[in-house]
Amino acid sequence: VGHIDDVQELRKFKPNTIPERFIRGVQERPTPTALISSSDLPTIDLSKLLKGNRDEILQLASACEEWGFFQVINHGIALNLLESIEGEAMEFFGLPLEEKQKYRMAPGTVQGYGQAFVFSEHQKLDWCNMFALGVIPDSIRNPLLWPKKPTNFSNTVEIYSKEARKLCQNLLKYIALGLGLNEDVFEKAFGVAVQAIRMNYYPPCSRPDLVLGLSPHSDGSALTVLQQGKGNSVGLQILKDDKWVPVQPLPNALVINIGDTMEVVTNGRYKSVEHRAVTHKQTDRLSIVTFYAPSYDIELGPMPEFVDKNNPCKYRRYSHGEYSKHYVTNKLQGKKTLEFAKISTKNS
Ligand code: SIN
Ligand code: FE2
Repeated sequence: VGHIDDVQELRKFKPNTIPERFIRGVQERPTPTALISSSDLPTIDLSKLLKGNRDEILQLASACEEWGFFQVINHGIALNLLESIEGEAMEFFGLPLEEKQKYRMAPGTVQGYGQAFVFSEHQKLDWCNMFALGVIPDSIRNPLLWPKKPTNFSNTVEIYSKEARKLCQNLLKYIALGLGLNEDVFEKAFGVAVQAIRMNYYPPCSRPDLVLGLSPHSDGSALTVLQQGKGNSVGLQILKDDKWVPVQPLPNALVINIGDTMEVVTNGRYKSVEHRAVTHKQTDRLSIVTFYAPSYDIELGPMPEFVDKNNPCKYRRYSHGEYSKHYVTNKLQGKKTLEFAKISTKNS
């Protein structure tokens, strides 16, 4: 068999084999962690935010500050659209390998079908198949990578992406208000936001204790919207106080997280939290992830509101285009990518 690194093929033809490249070092393995009740992860009601509910805005602010992650309910994306995108994604990953390979990710790129962020033969691989597309602006689209099969896949991605964009724009408005800023500061600062979608499919794995579904990382975006497959097992874990906290999906809710951009513009007040995905012995899992990020050509840095004597400026100014390039040319490695933006201190 050729495509030995394709986890779905591995699962099909050698269900009990875990190739060496997937086996993590002892420190990295997902050992059973202290189960912190997932009800601790805040839930935000967008419909309350849209009514200007002060209390909900404060809840949002504290979710961003304490967790960097929250679930959003009444998010405005129709239930049947969540179901359609999930259905299309599952159908896509279920296609024969030859069909999916038509959209294969070229080495060193992050769009299409395959595994992104792999740069060396020594690097461990994730127990995951990805399919990713740049959506906005047109200049990041590669029309050849938009699948013809399943028939409704591409159209559903278009519709879904519009809705996810609205959600991000709405949330950024209330995040701004929660920080005591004008509601349009982020919209103005980010310009025409870049948007991408990535679907992650994690087949079952005979040894979930040895592998990771997705390596620990923080997101290079401003905000990320994550939809988990209906009825899927818990797979997403976030690093809180040095412990991995599993995120129990709320039915029909979406998970939102703060990305690196928000950490930079708030000068570290809101943190882009490290997270990873784990796999299961019997069950597969799907996540559909929307990344919302500043326009490539706009320069960003900590906003002056977040810099003072007690909070010296931690990050330099840079364009998101530079950051994005840096992000996609390095392996996922916790919060390492954000070091790109750090102002080096005297002693280091
Ligand atoms: C991600 O961080 O991109 C996805 C994590 C997940 O599968 O829940
Ligand atoms: Fe992520």
